Amino acid sequence: MTNNGKMQSVTLRVLRYNPEVDQKQHFQEFQVEYTADTTILDALHQIKAEQDGSLTFRRSCRHAICGSCAMNVNGKNILVCKTPLRTQLDRKNRVTIRPLPFLPVIKDLVVDRSAFWEEYQRVRPWLIAPPEAPEKEFRMTPEEVEALHNAETCIMCGACYSSCQVVALNKKYIGPHALLKAFMRVMDPRDTEPGERLDEVSGSDGVFRCHTIFNCIDACPKGLNPTEAIETLRKLVQKRQAFVAARQERQKTLLPVESSTAPAAAD
Ligand code: F3S
Ligand code: FES
Repeated sequence: MTNNGKMQSVTLRVLRYNPEVDQKQHFQEFQVEYTADTTILDALHQIKAEQDGSLTFRRSCRHAICGSCAMNVNGKNILVCKTPLRTQLDRKNRVTIRPLPFLPVIKDLVVDRSAFWEEYQRVRPWLIAPPEAPEKEFRMTPEEVEALHNAETCIMCGACYSSCQVVALNKKYIGPHALLKAFMRVMDPRDTEPGERLDEVSGSDGVFRCHTIFNCIDACPKGLNPTEAIETLRKLVQKRQAFVAARQERQKTLLPVESSTAPAAAD
């Protein structure tokens, strides 16, 4: 570890890809100066400003809020804007940076997140409020607000989505990020469509596709727990399906008896 202010040098191995000239991805090494305060994002900026202006990556807020700087560092998905470089050195004094796994690479560290956003939209993450909304505010209890808090702090960085082996193997999966948002609305007492939402996540690409691998928990830079949310949704879906099945069975016994099977009327 460095003392604050004292410059040290490290090798950054960056997985690069330019679709206009490269047949496939390849590593490029850069020497970078850093102090105890230098983040990985600072180091990438340093490379771009001083060594190779073509290095391409996403970032915006630099405060772990926008979610755009998620990358794979030494095999783990993290936000590079909040991660000090000194915490990620391997035994050879190197840091290896790749784009988020399992997503199509557009250029260098930038991936195509279209599928990620499409799944997010699909679960309709917005509140479907009652037609007569209160003039000022909904009066929710502190416990209800607390229950929603976790899912609300998700910044949609994609770290969980791109760490999930089910996403890697089968693109037909809603994914932990979107299921966490679906959970949030199902649990939201203001929402008017919890039943429909449960139906929407009950298909073969929904909550039953999750294999409880837990990678999403390990990857989340906000310490959220998508696995628990998915498990809760799964139980609610099962309860709903059992209720609907029992009701259908009961309704069969309410139907008039078929004339062919009815006993002959007495003279
Ligand atoms: Fe994937 Fe998380 Fe389930 S990693 S399989 S969504 S527990
Ligand atoms: Fe916004 Fe890292 S730049 S989360």
